[in-house]
Amino acid sequence: MIVFLLAAAVPFAGSVVCANCHARIADSQSQTGHAGALKRETGRWAFGSGLQAITYVSQADEDTYLEHGLSWYRKSNGLDLTPGHKSRQGVRYRTFAADAAILRCFQCHSTGTLRLASRREILPAEPGVRCEACHGPGGEHAKAPARVRLRNPGKMKAAEINILCGECHRMPPAVGVETNWENPWNARHQPVYLSQAECFQKSGGRLSCLTCHPPHTSQPVNTSARCQACHENTRHRTATAGKTCVNCHMPDVAPSSLLRFANHWIGIYGENPLRPLAKRQGR
Ligand code: HEC
Ligand code: HEC
Ligand code: HEC
Ligand code: HEC
Ligand code: HEC
Ligand code: HEC
Ligand code: HEC
Repeated sequence: MIVFLLAAAVPFAGSVVCANCHARIADSQSQTGHAGALKRETGRWAFGSGLQAITYVSQADEDTYLEHGLSWYRKSNGLDLTPGHKSRQGVRYRTFAADAAILRCFQCHSTGTLRLASRREILPAEPGVRCEACHGPGGEHAKAPARVRLRNPGKMKAAEINILCGECHRMPPAVGVETNWENPWNARHQPVYLSQAECFQKSGGRLSCLTCHPPHTSQPVNTSARCQACHENTRHRTATAGKTCVNCHMPDVAPSSLLRFANHWIGIYGENPLRPLAKRQGR
């Protein structure tokens, strides 16, 4: 959903205000990929914290934005074609196109309400995915914290957390909607893939994004320990020494030579990292 031009109706406070009372969380969250997902750089916007890539976007004229043809990639520490592009010329977007594509880039990579400045320039309220992207507008809470409470996803069910994170990481598919499991780009959509895993479907709502991703830090958790909390002493016929659970059961998918995503459809894999063996054989 695009929150647009509703600045007066939606009282967002901004993370600087939250930091007054939640200093430790704010400090830690400011170091995450989320916080760095959008930055203003000399006349252009840098999308992506650079954990994997940075894509540049700038306003071309009053009606048009340009997604630059060259992006920076960590893996090569250099520039290469932006995903989906066929030339270095870049791709132009009409600001108010029917699919709102460029507005949607800003919406997922920023927090609060988008506004328009002069020359129809898009201005996010706060660049990056900060506090109120997950907790909702906090202006009233910041004034009276005991009286006005914010959404605490720690109290939500696993399926609801998938939907909260899925607002940007993409929703689990609706019934009857087919996902193309052979397209490696789709592996970026973690909620979609996790929702297919037996671990998710058969664990009575105990498995969510938060099982493995603490929300206010990018520090990796010990995922093997998380697996073993539900799978004690699994007996393998396969030799497992020297590998982690994730190496085999959440294999890397590489949609291009410069990007990789962990397949969140936890399962038993053969040669094909896109989907598990068991499902392919209809077990
Ligand atoms: C003036 C101090 C203050 C500011 C500013 C403030 N908070 Fe809080 N926040 C609190 C206090 C105190 C609590 C505990 C309230 C309670 O338990 O009654 C709290 C609780 C919370 C909770 C837990 C809610 C729950 O019910 O479990 C969240 C989430 C939260 N704050 C987020 C934020 C965000 C996001 C911002 C910025 C928009 C923010 N806070 C700004 C003082 C503040
Ligand atoms: C407002 C949109 C939005 C929401 C809501 C959101 N994310 Fe993200 N997330 C992003 C974007 C954009 C990135 C890319 C950040 C970058 O540039 O590195 C990202 C990156 C990540 C990463 C990898 C980067 C890192 O710092 O580790 C993880 C893990 C992640 N998100 C988990 C979650 C979880 C879990 C939730 C729900 C509790 C969630 N996200 C909710 C937009 C969002
Ligand atoms: C529906 C929400 C959404 C939209 C729309 C969106 N992004 Fe993202 N973007 C994400 C999420 C979530 C991630 C993290 C997962 C991933 O890497 O795919 C991300 C990751 C990225 C990254 C890589 C960050 C890193 O270092 O890993 C770049 C670059 C990026 N987006 C640029 C863009 C640009 C440019 C647009 C518009 C053309 C755009 N995004 C539109 C949600 C979105
Ligand atoms: C990607 C989504 C996301 C973002 C961004 C985010 N939070 Fe949270 N926050 C959560 C989730 C999920 C929980 C529940 C954690 C749990 O119970 O394991 C939570 C819990 C909290 C709590 C209550 C529990 C506690 O740890 O004290 C506070 C307070 C809070 N967040 C403040 C903030 C502030 C301040 C920011 C910005 C600096 C922020 N959050 C950014 C998702 C987010
Ligand atoms: C919240 C509990 C939970 C967590 C955490 C969890 N699983 Fe599972 N997993 C299950 C349940 C329940 C099943 C269904 C089969 C069963 O009852 O043992 C399952 C099934 C599996 C299967 C068989 C899948 C198939 O399609 O045949 C594998 C492999 C697996 N898990 C590996 C893992 C790995 C590796 C991790 C960590 C990355 C993990 N699980 C995390 C609960 C969990
Ligand atoms: C069973 C553990 C587990 C669960 C549950 C889980 N993740 Fe992950 N996630 C991982 C692992 C392991 C990685 C790879 C980390 C690395 O390479 O450093 C990862 C990586 C990511 C990344 C970085 C890009 C990528 O795909 O490698 C994003 C974004 C992400 N997860 C989002 C989510 C979201 C959103 C959810 C909930 C739908 C979720 N994860 C649930 C274990 C998990
Ligand atoms: C070297 C790759 C590899 C590693 C490492 C690995 N597994 Fe497996 N796992 C497999 C394969 C292959 C199977 C299918 C049965 C077999 O060969 O034992 C399997 C089966 C499973 C099953 C299903 C068992 C059943 O009876 O249906 C679970 C659960 C599981 N693994 C969990 C884990 C956990 C937890 C870890 C980490 C402690 C782990 N695996 C490490 C490859 C691996």
